[in-house]
Amino acid sequence: MTNGFKPDQLLYGGDYNPEQWPPEIWREDVRLMQEAGVNFVSLGIFSWAKLQPGPDAAFNFGWLDEVMGLLHAGGIGINLATATASPPPWLFVQFPDARPVTWDGVRLEVGGRQLYCPSHQGFRSAVQTLVRAVAGRYSDHPALRLWHVNNEYGCHISECFCDLCGEQFRVWLRERYGDIATLNAAWGTAFWSQQYGEWAEIQPPRQAPTYANPAQQLDWRRFSSDNLLGLFELEVEVLREITPQVPVTTNFLGFLKNVDYVKWAGREDVVSLDAYPDPADPLGHVEAALQYDLVRSLGGGQRWLLMEQATSAVNWRTRNAPKRPGLMRLDSLQAVAHGASAVMYFQWRASRAGAEKYHSGMLPHVGEKSRTWQEVKALGAELRGLRPLAQMGVPTRVALLFNWENWWALEIDSKPSADLRQMPIVLKYYAALRSLGQSVDLVWPEGDLSGYDAVIVPNAYLLTAGAAGNLRAFVQRGGHLVLGAFSGIVDEHEQIGLGGYPAMLRDVLGAWVEEWLPLAPGATLGVRREDGQETQTRTWAEKLHLSGAQALAHFTGDYLAGGAAISEHAFGQGRAYYLAADFEREDIAWVLRRALLAAGVAVSDLPLELDVGVSSSQDSHVLTLLNFHRTETLHLQLPEGGHELGGAGNVAPRLDLAPLEARFVRYDRPVAPSDVHVVTSELAPV
Ligand code: GLA
Ligand code: ZN
Repeated sequence: MTNGFKPDQLLYGGDYNPEQWPPEIWREDVRLMQEAGVNFVSLGIFSWAKLQPGPDAAFNFGWLDEVMGLLHAGGIGINLATATASPPPWLFVQFPDARPVTWDGVRLEVGGRQLYCPSHQGFRSAVQTLVRAVAGRYSDHPALRLWHVNNEYGCHISECFCDLCGEQFRVWLRERYGDIATLNAAWGTAFWSQQYGEWAEIQPPRQAPTYANPAQQLDWRRFSSDNLLGLFELEVEVLREITPQVPVTTNFLGFLKNVDYVKWAGREDVVSLDAYPDPADPLGHVEAALQYDLVRSLGGGQRWLLMEQATSAVNWRTRNAPKRPGLMRLDSLQAVAHGASAVMYFQWRASRAGAEKYHSGMLPHVGEKSRTWQEVKALGAELRGLRPLAQMGVPTRVALLFNWENWWALEIDSKPSADLRQMPIVLKYYAALRSLGQSVDLVWPEGDLSGYDAVIVPNAYLLTAGAAGNLRAFVQRGGHLVLGAFSGIVDEHEQIGLGGYPAMLRDVLGAWVEEWLPLAPGATLGVRREDGQETQTRTWAEKLHLSGAQALAHFTGDYLAGGAAISEHAFGQGRAYYLAADFEREDIAWVLRRALLAAGVAVSDLPLELDVGVSSSQDSHVLTLLNFHRTETLHLQLPEGGHELGGAGNVAPRLDLAPLEARFVRYDRPVAPSDVHVVTSELAPV
C-alpha cells in the first residue's frame, strides 16, 4: 500500500458509461446525480474503442474531457478507468493470436468482452500505450481521485491455454524450481511415466486422455493467477510513474476461484469489491457478509469500496428477481456495517442496448418516476447521516482461515469424494460464527494470528509446513483452534503426509485419522453429541483415533459406530478441536460455541436473518442491526445506554426491528455483536 485512500465521508455513485448516450443526456446525468447525492463515479471502464477508434487513429479524448469537466463542475469525484477492460475488435484483426484459448483448444471470438490472452506481447503493449495516454491526459485533472485499473480481472478469462501462455508457464516453472529434477520430484512424475527431461516438454494441463498430474494442475492455477497479476502490474507501473499521487484499485469479485486476491491486495492502495447477492435467496446476505469480511481483511482491516452492486435485478441469472422495496437500502447499509466506505452500483443509467440492458441501474429505463430512483435518492441522503462510520474499524476476536491454494487443491479431480467443495464448507462455518454473534476477520495460513482468541479453519486440505507451524504456535500460546474435516492431508505439491492424517498436526489435535468414508447422495451417518443430541453427517465421515484428546461426539452408525466424531485437546496454553465429518451448521455452531466460550469470547444465539455488527473508533462504538427477514419483526434486547447515531435520543434496550429495517445505535463504551439477544416470542409484547 502506498497512498491509501481514506475518504472522510461515505462515497456514493456507480459505473458511469456516457459513451452509451448522446451529450444532451450527460448534462441531465450530472443534474440527477446531484439530486441523488452521488459524489463519486467510475468512469470509462468500457471505452477503449471510443478512445482509440483504430490502430492508427489519433486518441479521441474530446468527449471524455467534456464529461470530466461536467462531473467536476457538479462536485462529483472521479474513479477513472484505465479503459483496458475490453479491447476493441480491430486489435484482433491486428493480432488474431491475442485471442485466448480454452482448455479444450478453442480460440475464443470477438463479440463479447474481456477477450485477451494475458501473455500476448502485442496486446500488452497496446494496454501500456492506452494507459500511458489516459494517465498523461488526466494526471492533473482536479476531479481525479482514484484509478480503476481494468475491470474484474479473471471474470471471464482467468486462464489461457495458448502456446504463448505455455511458454510463460515454463518460464514461471523454471523460476519456481530452478532445475528439472526438482520439478520432477515436486510433481511426483515417477508416477505414470511422466518424467520430464527438458523444460520444453512441459505443457499447460490441457485436455488430456485422463487426469492431468495434480501438482501440474495446482502450479497451473498459481501461474494463471500470477500471469493476470502481471497484467495488473503492467498498468500499475505506468500509473505510478505518471501519477504517483493518485491511488490505485482494481475491482475484486470476492471469492473468484482462479484469482488469489491475497497476492493482489497488497499491490493496491485500497481494496474494492463487486457484490451481487441474489435477491431471491433469503440468506444471500450471509454470503455477501463473508465477501465483505474477506475484502476488509485483504486490505488489512482498512475500509474498502463496494465498487459495484445492483439496485435491483441483474441480467445474468436464469431468473432475475428484482430487489423488493427496502432491500437495496439494506444491502448497501450491510456493506457499510462490514467496513465499506463507498456504496456504488453497476451502473448509473440502465442501458438501452447490449447484453446488459435488463440489468438494473440507479436510474432505470422508466426514469425518475420509478420506485428505484426514489430509493436511490433516499439512500444518498441517508448515507450523509452515517458519515461517522466512514472512518471506523470493525473489531474482531475471531478469525476464519482461508486459502486460495487450498481451494484449488481440494477441487482437483481424483479425490476420495467430489462432494467436498470449498465454498459450501467455508460458508457453513462462517454462518455458524455469525449465528453466535461474532464479527469475523479472514486470515491466511501463514499470516499473523496473534490478534485473535480463536482461529477457525473450515478446511485445510493443503497445509504447508509453515502454516502447520503457525497454527501450532497459535495454540501453544493459548489460542483456540477449530479444524474441519479432511485437513492437513497434502503439502504445497499435493504430496501426502504419511503416518496418519493430519501428519503435521497430530500432536496438536491429540488425535489422528486413519481412513475416510464418503457417503452416497442422500445417505446419512448417525452421530451422538456429548449433550445427548442425536444428529448426523451427510457427505463425509472419518475414522478418528484419539491419542490424548477427548471425544465430544461419537458416530452411531456403520463400522464407525462408537468411534469419535469430534475431538477436543488441550495443547500448550490453548485447545484444539477437530470435526471428523462434514457436519451441518447447527453442529458446527455447537462446537464453535464451546471453543469460543473456552477462549473467553462471549456468544449469543442469533437468527441468520439478523446481520449484527459493531464499528468502532476510539471513543465511539456503533452497533449495526439489519433485519433481512422479509416478513418477520425481530424482538431484540440491546445493551443499555445506546443513542441514535447522529442524534441525542436514547435507544431503549428493548427494540423491535421490522422486516428490512436497519438501526444504528451508538455507545460510549465498547460493545460486541454478542451483546445483542433475541427476545423469545413468549416474552414479546402482543
Ligand atoms: C460485473 C461487471 C460490470 C457488469 C456487472 C453486471 O460486475 O464489472 O461491468 O457486467 O457485472 O452485474
Ligand atoms: Zn494465452
